[in-house]
Amino acid sequence: MSRVLGASLVGVDGVAVEVEVRISSQLPRVDIVGLPEAAVRESASRVRAALAAHGERFPDRRITVNLAPAAMRKSGAGLDLPIAVGILAAEAQVPAQALRRVGLLGELALDGRLRPVHGALALTLALRNAGCRRVVVPTASGPEASLAPGVEVTVASDLGAVLRHLRGGEPLATPPPPPEGSAAATPLDLADVRGQESARRALEVAAAGGHAVLFQGPPGSGKTMLARRLPGLLPPPDAEEILEATRVHGAAGLLDERNPVVRQRPFRAPHHSASPAGLLGGGNPPGPGEVSLAHTGVLFLDELPEFERRSLEGLRQVLEDRLVVVARARNRCAFPARFQLLAAANPCPCGWRLSQARDCRCDDRALARYAARLSGPLADRIDLQVEVPAVPWKELDAGQAGASSSQVRERVGAARALQALRLARFGARTNAEIPDSVLDEQVAATPDARALVGRAVDGLGLSARGARRVLRVARTVADLAGEERVGPNAVAEALAYRNEG
Ligand SMILES: Nc1ncnc2c1ncn2[C@@H]1O[C@H](COP(=O)(O)OP(=O)(O)OP(=O)(O)O)[C@@H](O)[C@H]1O
Ligand SMILES: [Mg+2]
Ligand SMILES: [Zn+2]
Repeated sequence: MSRVLGASLVGVDGVAVEVEVRISSQLPRVDIVGLPEAAVRESASRVRAALAAHGERFPDRRITVNLAPAAMRKSGAGLDLPIAVGILAAEAQVPAQALRRVGLLGELALDGRLRPVHGALALTLALRNAGCRRVVVPTASGPEASLAPGVEVTVASDLGAVLRHLRGGEPLATPPPPPEGSAAATPLDLADVRGQESARRALEVAAAGGHAVLFQGPPGSGKTMLARRLPGLLPPPDAEEILEATRVHGAAGLLDERNPVVRQRPFRAPHHSASPAGLLGGGNPPGPGEVSLAHTGVLFLDELPEFERRSLEGLRQVLEDRLVVVARARNRCAFPARFQLLAAANPCPCGWRLSQARDCRCDDRALARYAARLSGPLADRIDLQVEVPAVPWKELDAGQAGASSSQVRERVGAARALQALRLARFGARTNAEIPDSVLDEQVAATPDARALVGRAVDGLGLSARGARRVLRVARTVADLAGEERVGPNAVAEALAYRNEG
């Protein structure tokens, strides 16, 4: 019997799989047991052809391949290589010693070439965590896999190279390092937006504190334009965030083969016709949704009220948990989903309510229904709710440009550094994530500032949850100003970002 280590994906996580092969002297047949899905069951045919192509003998006896842990479904063709090597090792055609603490990944073509696997980074991390010192992957998967710290990654282009290496120690190549950050399309600049001073300020506050934002205004006022400029205001992702985003995109098969590293914060803008599963994750086998593809970055929902109610309800939970759990009969996947939400909406179905430019043509029932959708399940998870009025022609034509993205990014970075110092011990990065239990201590509002919040609760019907959100936003306003304590000015600004209690 032989044992070889491979790995399989569950959601966006890799799980190490022990491939055990037993060969017994019965009628020739191959059994693969241990919950293989279709692609794994078909492995036997690919392995047989690939071994023949390299002049290796396929045993004419009964071969049992057991994939452990047995309770987990194994998907994908990446187990081809460990199965092929396991069959040879079971007949002592490959020395067991050469397989110690080595993980193997790869799909076999019929001629023995190794094809890349989805999720090479997640799979390599799983093998490292299972004790492998070295992982052999298909050449095309090398750059992605080599992002995994603490494990040596080598590449092979076909089964023959792997066998020569295991038998005779012929060295395998190390993959070229992934190309450095491309100076990809310079992000859109905030200075392009004329007028809209309060909306631009709100975007800066949102960027600084990681707060969710809703922009509301008539068609053409610049809501989408503003939203697309948020990524350019955020600090670049750190090494851990780059690894996380790359792992998720790799498992979803969305990486660029030549540059398989997600070095910029993702910006995802799904259309409102997206299904709840497409937005939140799901399907069979379970895959990540837009909320997880936006992990470490921005999720932009344009025309928010047009999304399905089920999506919006699900989104509320995701914002709270910062992950999505998809349960299937055998497997339970948790997809990371720590993103900043940005949403835009018209104030009414026709779009022109509150506008001077045109008259609103919506009747009362339509208005009520629309308002209910907007104030529905999600509204009280959105810290900043901002009016974006139409800009007068005079400002569009001659309005002077405001701060550029790089100026704002600098202020945002300074405010975020203050937050990181305070919040690291709570596992939070930004004020939007301050746990309720330490909110008062962390916000450090002056008595005047607290009195102002109290007046809003008693006089304006601000809810308890609303009051907590006001305090979080006020903390961010104070951080942007470099102030240690939250004063009445910061609270007043935060209160102005709330349309309702
Ligand atoms: N404040 C502004 N400064 C400069 N250009 C603007 C501004 N507002 C709008 N524009 C111009 O108008 C175009 C439409 O703006 P945008 O798509 O952002 O509007 P919107 O508010 O999202 O509208 P809708 O509700 O129809 O989606 C922009 O591409 C831009 O050229
Ligand atoms: Mg728009
Ligand atoms: Zn209307």
